[in-house]
Amino acid sequence: MKVSPHLPDAHKIPSTDQLDRLREQTPMYDAVIEEVDGRRIRVGDTWLTDFASCNYLGFDLDEEIITAGERAVRRWGTHPGWSRLLGNPRLYPQIEERLTELLGAPDTLVLPTITHIHMSVLPALVDGGAVFVEASAHKTIYDGGSYARGLGAQLYRWHADDPDELVRLLRSADAGRPRVVCLDGVNSMTGNIPDLPALAEICREWGALLYVDDAHGFGVIGERDGEAPTPYGSRGNAVVRHCGQSYDNVVLVGGFSKAYSALLAFVAVPTRVKEHLKLAAPPYLYSGPSPVHSLAAVLAGFDVNETRGEQLRFTLHRLTARVLAHIRSLGVHTPNRHQTPVIELPLSPGYDLAAVAKLLWRRGVYVTLAAYPLVPRGQVGFRIQLTSAHTDEHVDQLNSVLTELNGHGALRRALA
Ligand SMILES: Cc1ncc(COP(=O)(O)O)c(C=O)c1O
Repeated sequence: MKVSPHLPDAHKIPSTDQLDRLREQTPMYDAVIEEVDGRRIRVGDTWLTDFASCNYLGFDLDEEIITAGERAVRRWGTHPGWSRLLGNPRLYPQIEERLTELLGAPDTLVLPTITHIHMSVLPALVDGGAVFVEASAHKTIYDGGSYARGLGAQLYRWHADDPDELVRLLRSADAGRPRVVCLDGVNSMTGNIPDLPALAEICREWGALLYVDDAHGFGVIGERDGEAPTPYGSRGNAVVRHCGQSYDNVVLVGGFSKAYSALLAFVAVPTRVKEHLKLAAPPYLYSGPSPVHSLAAVLAGFDVNETRGEQLRFTLHRLTARVLAHIRSLGVHTPNRHQTPVIELPLSPGYDLAAVAKLLWRRGVYVTLAAYPLVPRGQVGFRIQLTSAHTDEHVDQLNSVLTELNGHGALRRALA
């Protein structure tokens, strides 16, 4: 489907009135967090257990990483004073070298955020050709695609559950221009992993690039060698390796701001493309750099990933599996099929999200609410995220609220 200049529903910008209404309904929007104690947070006078954190490996609380960041700030100051093209503290090449090795990629380029990458690298790769954005892809991918369209590209929308649709669209686009197919790796709402082997095969057959944003998978899922103690695989080296794919015709984008708890993001590309992007992607010259603490936290994060990563992922999976088993025992629907720590719970049709938010708040459970118009009406509900810094007591607390919500008929039933 060719996308008209009008935004699809899920990408409409809510009005300030709508934001006011959301704030009136629940303190979980635009909340000010006063204090943090492990995975407990204080908002006003209320202490809550935080199930909205993307810090999947608990690196935000890790002493080794905190100390490494402090040491680096003493050495380098709080912030590099240069954009990357003008001066790279040694930390940058160290990060790119280690990241390239971890991913098994040809090369990598790091920039401050994934949003920067989608808004600059994606249009540079599309280069006035055609961009095909999967319907449930993250808003920032869609924004990058829209920007590419503003620069003259054709923008199409396709659905991951209908690969024939993608083939039809690829066939209809000009084969003489670049074609870039984009989607989430671990999906930011459902937590599901796409069928990357099938999609990569289609893209290779049609000479298109497959551009995958694995913000939620990097650090969590990784290569599978049959030895890994969980379905996540090992090393947390993201969806391409997890799916046994090579980087031929595949561009992996990921970030450190979730599992690695640091402000930095990456794109894995061949070295000649990396060199081109240093000029073609404006943030390399025009954007401020990541803070020194983040750069050092990424390097220390690689060390921790090597020494304790499997243990942290084991805990993460164990806690996630406990929540999913409970959801299943209640007969409640979640789209989560791959046991990743991203668990979406849509509400029963027509059920009031504000009432759900009130009960969660009273029981001290903090989640990501998915309210209309931020999501389409049929997807109203909430998202739970587990991290390795949660405890069994936190999971008991969450499971007990889910039982209560289910007793009120708030949660959508699983299909028999
Ligand atoms: C799938 C996905 N992509 C991109 C982003 C944005 O990442 P960044 O904060 O690095 O711009 C997010 C953030 O939530 C995300 O979930």
